[in-house]
Amino acid sequence: MRNFMNRIIQYLSIFFVLFLFACGSSLTKKTADNLKVALNNERTASEKYTKYAQVAMSEGFDTLAQLFSAVSNSEKIHATNHERMLHKYGGNSDNPEIAAYQVKTTKENLDAAIKSEMLDMQSLYPGFIKTAEIETAPDGATAFTWALNGDKRHLNFYRKAASSILSGNESGISYLWYVCPRCGNIYNPDDSKALCEICLEKQENFIGFVKIDSK
Ligand SMILES: [Fe+2]
Repeated sequence: MRNFMNRIIQYLSIFFVLFLFACGSSLTKKTADNLKVALNNERTASEKYTKYAQVAMSEGFDTLAQLFSAVSNSEKIHATNHERMLHKYGGNSDNPEIAAYQVKTTKENLDAAIKSEMLDMQSLYPGFIKTAEIETAPDGATAFTWALNGDKRHLNFYRKAASSILSGNESGISYLWYVCPRCGNIYNPDDSKALCEICLEKQENFIGFVKIDSK
């Protein structure tokens, strides 16, 4: 009888744990769905900017190519963060979907990149953050917020680059870029600080960081 009762308690415990897991997954379902959308979006952006960098190089815009490459790496880190959170909230990242995009001239590509960053900032991430907060999925909200803040900086740098290209040179664009390995934020040597302004990662851990001797 005692063994029978122990067995019943074991079964009930397992059932209770599975029940809690199922409840947790369903409570964050929209956030998991949004993470999958954001993951595919960032994967597409990363691939697209790598191709834009190749076109920029072939057209002689080697400095702008560096910016496209840095932003591509940044988007890849956003995608990695989204994927990790997607798994945390019970989703899967199988069957990645890369959306269709066009690769044209560098000036057209830069214009398309500006529109793409604006779209993410205005239409994609604000709603995703709100939903994650409603579903009490704080880590999902953080991943979306880091990507949103990173995209704001991408847009700013792309706009400055567009002004430089329109004036006929690349003098207003930095050649060197650092990428925060944790949140994906990008910096150039002029605006890089001791800690990442988004996630507080140490500057010496930034990808591509080179300590410049001031002596
Ligand atoms: Fe960071």
